[in-house]
Amino acid sequence: MGNLVTKECIEKCIKTKIIGRTVIYKEEVDSTSTEAKRQAEQGACHGLLVTADTQNAGKGRRGRSWSSPKGSGIWMSFVLKPEISCAHASMLTLVAALSVTAAIREVTGLEAMIKWPNDIVVHGKKVCGILTEMKSEADGIRYVIVGIGINANVKEFPKELTETAGSLLMEGNKTVDRCLMICRVLEFYEAYYESYLKTEDLSNLMKEYNLFLVNYEKTVKILEGSEEKIGIAKGIDKMGALLVEISGEIIPIVSGEVSVRGLYGYV
Ligand code: BTN
Repeated sequence: MGNLVTKECIEKCIKTKIIGRTVIYKEEVDSTSTEAKRQAEQGACHGLLVTADTQNAGKGRRGRSWSSPKGSGIWMSFVLKPEISCAHASMLTLVAALSVTAAIREVTGLEAMIKWPNDIVVHGKKVCGILTEMKSEADGIRYVIVGIGINANVKEFPKELTETAGSLLMEGNKTVDRCLMICRVLEFYEAYYESYLKTEDLSNLMKEYNLFLVNYEKTVKILEGSEEKIGIAKGIDKMGALLVEISGEIIPIVSGEVSVRGLYGYV
């Protein structure tokens, strides 16, 4: 039964030390990230995983909603309590992108790629989105919630998403074992997270990230307000910025400030 997720199957299969060792599974939730936040506010431990079969108020980036049909996707969020400076926390999203890409490649054999900074695409279709939220206080980070939505076995998308969204099932013609995928994502995450903590940046991970970067050496359009610039993406630097060559000059593009589009389709 590749298509079932239960608390027990995750607990049985997971090989991490901490992340995902405590699991909350719900058939339905507003948003796994909102639930993880509630848990963190009540003192949840570092590594708590919240996953659900469906979300009725799934959140995307930039205030968008996230379609989360039941019985088919992976909707999961985990709590981190890193002892790092706030300025370095945004890189945890790129660590998640790398982990999901590695897990999809291993579990399905599909050539998943990263669209900077943190969308995962297969055959030019977005199969996964990542939303990282942070709560900080004057003395540092209280917690970070990493929310990951993978369209694993989703068969249909709302009309407005059909051009851009895809699923692992649709792109690979095979049902994905969601429980195994959750475990592998978290195992990769734990390993990459340890590498990240050594330097508090992506020094040890950027090479691998750049190998998976769908924008690498491609023409990209940078949209900043009403301004548009065109350049060639040269990969990320150790802080996770996308380096773009514009008129012979390398400009670091910082995630969240601008939107990067390829010149064809979604990518
Ligand atoms: C994006 O807009 O690309 C980010 C989407 C993130 C969706 C995931 S699904 C699990 C977690 N819970 C949410 O409400 N959002 C994230």
